[in-house]
Amino acid sequence: MEKDKKVVTLAYGCQMSERDAETLTQITRQEGYTSSDDLQNADLVIINTCCVRESAENKILGKIGELKKLKEKNPNLKIAISGCMVQQPGALDRLKKRAPHIDIWAGTHNLHDFSTLLHQAQQGEKVAEVWEEPKTTLESTPLAEKGKLQANVNIMYGCNNFCSYCIVPHVRGRERSRKPEEIIQEIKELVASGCREVTLLGQNVNSYGKEFSPSYDFADLLHDVDQIPDLLRIRFITSHPKDLSDKLIETVAQGKNLCEHFHLPIQSGSNFILQRMNRKYTREYYLSRVQKIHELLPLASLTTDIIVGFPGETETYFEETLEIMTLIQYSQAFTFMYSKRSGTQAAEMEDQIPLDVKKRRLQRLMSVQNKQSLEWRQKMIGKIYEILVEGPSRTNPERLVGRTRGNELVVYDGHPDQIGSLVNIRITEAGTWTLVGDLET
Ligand code: 5AD
Ligand code: SF4
Repeated sequence: MEKDKKVVTLAYGCQMSERDAETLTQITRQEGYTSSDDLQNADLVIINTCCVRESAENKILGKIGELKKLKEKNPNLKIAISGCMVQQPGALDRLKKRAPHIDIWAGTHNLHDFSTLLHQAQQGEKVAEVWEEPKTTLESTPLAEKGKLQANVNIMYGCNNFCSYCIVPHVRGRERSRKPEEIIQEIKELVASGCREVTLLGQNVNSYGKEFSPSYDFADLLHDVDQIPDLLRIRFITSHPKDLSDKLIETVAQGKNLCEHFHLPIQSGSNFILQRMNRKYTREYYLSRVQKIHELLPLASLTTDIIVGFPGETETYFEETLEIMTLIQYSQAFTFMYSKRSGTQAAEMEDQIPLDVKKRRLQRLMSVQNKQSLEWRQKMIGKIYEILVEGPSRTNPERLVGRTRGNELVVYDGHPDQIGSLVNIRITEAGTWTLVGDLET
């Protein structure tokens, strides 16, 4: 009998990358592989890559190097590298030279055809397929994995925004929206298999459906997904501030299971820098969006992404970022040092900021945000929040963990029967990242 084949899939980067890695794992399952996290005994290793910052690329290159030793020990091992890093113009030749031990290279538009590439590699070929543009219909991509409590559902692919620092539009192509019927059908099937929470994914979900006629936008989609029976929670990422309409905020406010959480990357608090970033909004406009959210949803949680050390960022511009953060009070912020990405507009800008300045600014930003995240959570003490119970806490497995509608993590003493259901928790303690509470009966 043929031995059970094992695949280890590693994803680097954003939720889209994780979702793509899930697609690849699904394809290998159809090819007779079972998932594993044991690299030493793997028959196939897939790395779905990220190239949004140099630090991610360096980490991945390190991992690719490590896999060389594994392949020397086990010559039958096949290794596949897929996704954004492979898709960068000119990257494939460079990567192939650097890592001749890799069997499969697949670009972001070539995931659906992974089984063909796998068959070729199993015959001993080295294969590379990197299309510049997507050529298949969107619906040919395998759907999210069934049978899990939470699922990520792609509603669109690509990005048209060309923020001047960002490589994403260069490696994921132009915006394409999936048809609402397809998305709703996928979610219904997920719910039938036990899923209770979906996160609708897109680089800029607010511009979903721009190409549709008759018109049907993201707010319409949210409203329709909210009607699906037995689905307890609906989340969505990422919202671009420039496209966050009143209609969308109103839809979330009137919805049943639409979570009151907006991930609204601000990137900088300086109008000068925002303009150079090509973000297409001002700090005043951003604040007006936040005000609208607070007006209709006073309990909404806001999270954000911020880049420090963008070319031309003076100390004064940086202070403006600190100031706006303090004004807004985010529940959480993902903070990054600007990383030069070749092929983007900002890579060509003069006045790049030295690394030591970027590091110092990042430290300052993080310490301000950590304090705010803690204060945000301390304000939750004594109040009751509905959480969806996800399972045992990773750090404290005797306790259960779940999230509020605002996406804050809560740990409590509960019964495993509660996993997958909504419970009410009174918050008793707050840390920077986690809350602790008691079950309300
Ligand atoms: N350098 C640093 N951070 C970046 N991001 C995107 N491109 C870069 C870059 N070149 C950040 C942005 C984005 C998040 C996903 O990654 O903040 O919102
Ligand atoms: Fe990148 Fe801007 Fe598109 Fe986000 S909206 S993926 S930051 S180009």
